[in-house]
Amino acid sequence: MCGIVGYVGHRQAAEVILDGLKRLEYRGYDSAGLVISDSERVLNVMKRAGKLKVLSDAFRTQPLTGTLGLGHTRWATHGKPNDINAHPHLSEDGKLAVIHNGIIENYLPLRARLSAEGHTFASETDTEVLVHLIEAHYQGDLVAAVQAALREVHGAYAIVVSHADHELIVAARATSPLVIGLGQGENFVASDVPALLPYTREVIFLRDGDMALLAKDGVTVTDFGGVVLRRDSAIIDWDAEAAEKGGYPHYMLKEIFEQPVVLQNTLGGRLAANGTDVTLELSLDPASFNRVVITAAGTAYYSGLVGEYLIEKLARLPVEVEVASEFRYREPVIDSRTLVVVVSQSGETIDTLEALREAKRQGAHTLAILNAKGSSISREADDVLYIHAGPEIGVASTKAYMAMLAAFELLAIWLGRARGTLSAALAAELIAELRHTPALVEAALKAREQVAAIAEAFKGKSDYLFLGRGVNFPTALEGALKLKEISYIHAEAYATGEMKHGPIALIDDDMPVVAIATASALYDKTVSNIQEVRARDGIVIALASEGDEAIKAHADYVITAPRTMELISPMVNVVPLQLLAYETAARLGLDVDQPRNLAKSVTVE
Ligand code: AGP
Repeated sequence: MCGIVGYVGHRQAAEVILDGLKRLEYRGYDSAGLVISDSERVLNVMKRAGKLKVLSDAFRTQPLTGTLGLGHTRWATHGKPNDINAHPHLSEDGKLAVIHNGIIENYLPLRARLSAEGHTFASETDTEVLVHLIEAHYQGDLVAAVQAALREVHGAYAIVVSHADHELIVAARATSPLVIGLGQGENFVASDVPALLPYTREVIFLRDGDMALLAKDGVTVTDFGGVVLRRDSAIIDWDAEAAEKGGYPHYMLKEIFEQPVVLQNTLGGRLAANGTDVTLELSLDPASFNRVVITAAGTAYYSGLVGEYLIEKLARLPVEVEVASEFRYREPVIDSRTLVVVVSQSGETIDTLEALREAKRQGAHTLAILNAKGSSISREADDVLYIHAGPEIGVASTKAYMAMLAAFELLAIWLGRARGTLSAALAAELIAELRHTPALVEAALKAREQVAAIAEAFKGKSDYLFLGRGVNFPTALEGALKLKEISYIHAEAYATGEMKHGPIALIDDDMPVVAIATASALYDKTVSNIQEVRARDGIVIALASEGDEAIKAHADYVITAPRTMELISPMVNVVPLQLLAYETAARLGLDVDQPRNLAKSVTVE
């Protein structure tokens, strides 16, 4: 995610932009920049790596004047966080500026073509391809040039464009959010509402495929072909803090509902057009190692347990998964034939960072599945597979976990295809379902009401038990962790088949048991285990696949999840469990985003 702000009107654009970027800094903060069009029709640019304060301080020493401008705070996807890769990106004649949020999936072939046509690139970003593409199409009509360029681009993005010779901002949305602010003699565009609230509460939320032409005396919305569209404005009655949460009461709930878009960003550009392969920009040679070790902490560790099932199933490589705080001290037996995968949202978890260092000391090749660019782990791992989840503010990890799971799906397919253990047919089936996963997660979110009723019924309980089998045993572990870390209710998870070896002694008529019983090869055995719970007056909350009527005979409550392939189901099944934890904690009036005793990144041992 990144933060975009654009302004055209009667004020000094830079003041509006810097103030707006500050309100959007939660969307990304590894570099920032702005471009202001001055009265001489010259574009003046300032870009700085680091947090927004670095840019603001530099601006104070060298103010830029003008009443039209664009600004950006970056969450890097392609290219290190530095001054050159920061946005905006300019055309070679310095008259055209582009700012972008999202991913241009086909930027590499476009870059090659434009370079062959004589364009010179200064940065490593996918964004810079856009500005050269628009420049290549520009013959005096800015809107037509942007439309022509976007016809050649694939990906999920939001862009704003300005040209020194036009008192106009062109904005376009394809998945990543953009909202227009309507003023008197001035108009605004931003990634999110908070940037607009000090100036206007009348907004237009652009939809996918919308383009907006902003002049100081009006805004026109069209499609990418120039057909004018009717878009009603809305009045925002949120306060600033609520606006940063997109109108949600907590960041955690906002991030749970961001998961469909996050999945599009994680998968974007990595599912090959041939439908049977995955494209990952990794240096590692899949044939060069004979085992995999995955190590991480907390929720990231649970994603690794899902990764174990996927990699062993699809790539037929032996996999061990360990909590990082154990791995780093037990003198693990690893060598140059071991691929060590570390997983982290923050990239700063000291246990995971030290585990990475131990792996490197032992000569292993290290791959980080990682969210935060510019983090310590990103600098020390041999390879990095970014999950593109954007900044995760809620301490309880949700969208980052979802993105980690998607990354493991991609990695397992990539390894399986490279090692010849995964057939094109099964790969095609998995990739087709992965493309559908954002919609499946969107559908899973519809269970919120079902889940809220259960949360209300059981919010006073002191204990929960979560059960899951196979690739969904880690889902049960993650569900239990979510509940305990934000509601402070004791919750533990067991492999369903393991329950009869002891935990069944816990079963009584007071403790809710959440049993994951979605479509799988082990469904019948799971139902048998559920019957063992019921036979002891246990309270069964079954998570079942859509259309499963039989389960109702075995459960006190049923939460419905969209039906999908078993190997894809952890991404779908975790959603109702995230919502159960959230709805419980919210009903208990607890601090959902900053639970007691916890920190977002544990940088101490
Ligand atoms: C997840 O909800 C927890 N906040 C915690 O377990 C977290 O996953 C763990 O500390 C690892 O953090 P990382 O992904 O930033 O390394």
